[in-house]
Amino acid sequence: MVAALESGRLDDAALDLVELGCNHEQQHQELLLMDIKHLFSTHAFGPVYVDREPDVPGEVAPMGWREFAGGVHEVGAVGSGFAYDNEGPRHRVYLEDFAVSDRLVTNADWLEFMADDGYRRHEFWLSDGWGTVNQTGWHAPGYWREEDGGWTTFTLSGRRPVVPDEPVTHVSFYEADAYARWAGARLPTEFEWEVAAGTLGDARGRLLDPGRCHPGRAGSAMVGDVWEWTASAYLPYPGFVPANGAVGEYNGKFMSDQHVLRGASAVTPAGHERITYRNFFPAASRWVFSGLRLAR
Ligand SMILES: [Fe+2]
Repeated sequence: MVAALESGRLDDAALDLVELGCNHEQQHQELLLMDIKHLFSTHAFGPVYVDREPDVPGEVAPMGWREFAGGVHEVGAVGSGFAYDNEGPRHRVYLEDFAVSDRLVTNADWLEFMADDGYRRHEFWLSDGWGTVNQTGWHAPGYWREEDGGWTTFTLSGRRPVVPDEPVTHVSFYEADAYARWAGARLPTEFEWEVAAGTLGDARGRLLDPGRCHPGRAGSAMVGDVWEWTASAYLPYPGFVPANGAVGEYNGKFMSDQHVLRGASAVTPAGHERITYRNFFPAASRWVFSGLRLAR
């Protein structure tokens, strides 16, 4: 590859493939960290992947709302700079007036949901979510464990106390949806999310810092710290046509039974994120660095 790149003789089609390959590799870097965390969490001694200082809990800011006017909005990749095929074509959507929360849902918020029996009250849950909770016995986010009266979570720096002002992480779509209903709100659609994030410009939360590999305090940026579940099913945009050949398998064939997550996480390589980025996982997935923000 180095020789081919230095030759200067790669045509545009080949260079596009190289760029897609580099972006694909970045996705795998994030998946590797997700897998390492999961594997280490099952190890009897809870190994540490990255050593770092103990967390210093801070205050949880009260949740506020950002209001947006409905109407016709454009969403999708604009065509300048790299984007995956699933981010286009850019197209119009019609939105009603909406609001999104000005910060992520935190661990402190989630503890209130748990204290209110959120995991045991069917009225908050989608039918498939309720089935999954009863089948799995979920009663807290992924990696959480109750020890000596307090909750701990497994991180890439080993098992640590849950930090109240960090965003809740490793919750499934079902849990995110149930939380939102409990809170008297809902999850944003991916289009509401994109319109809201577009107004914040280049604001970024925490992306991959190899010395941390863990979300930071829930701040005001919409991109970073945790991937955010949306209410949207992962579907092709109007006019989407998969490419011919192997590249055509890249995204289109996964457009069933998955939900879109927006933003980026604390294990997403910096520069990989975009506000038009569409990540996607099945609704019961919890090993993703996934959290949520509310909408209404
Ligand atoms: Fe791959």
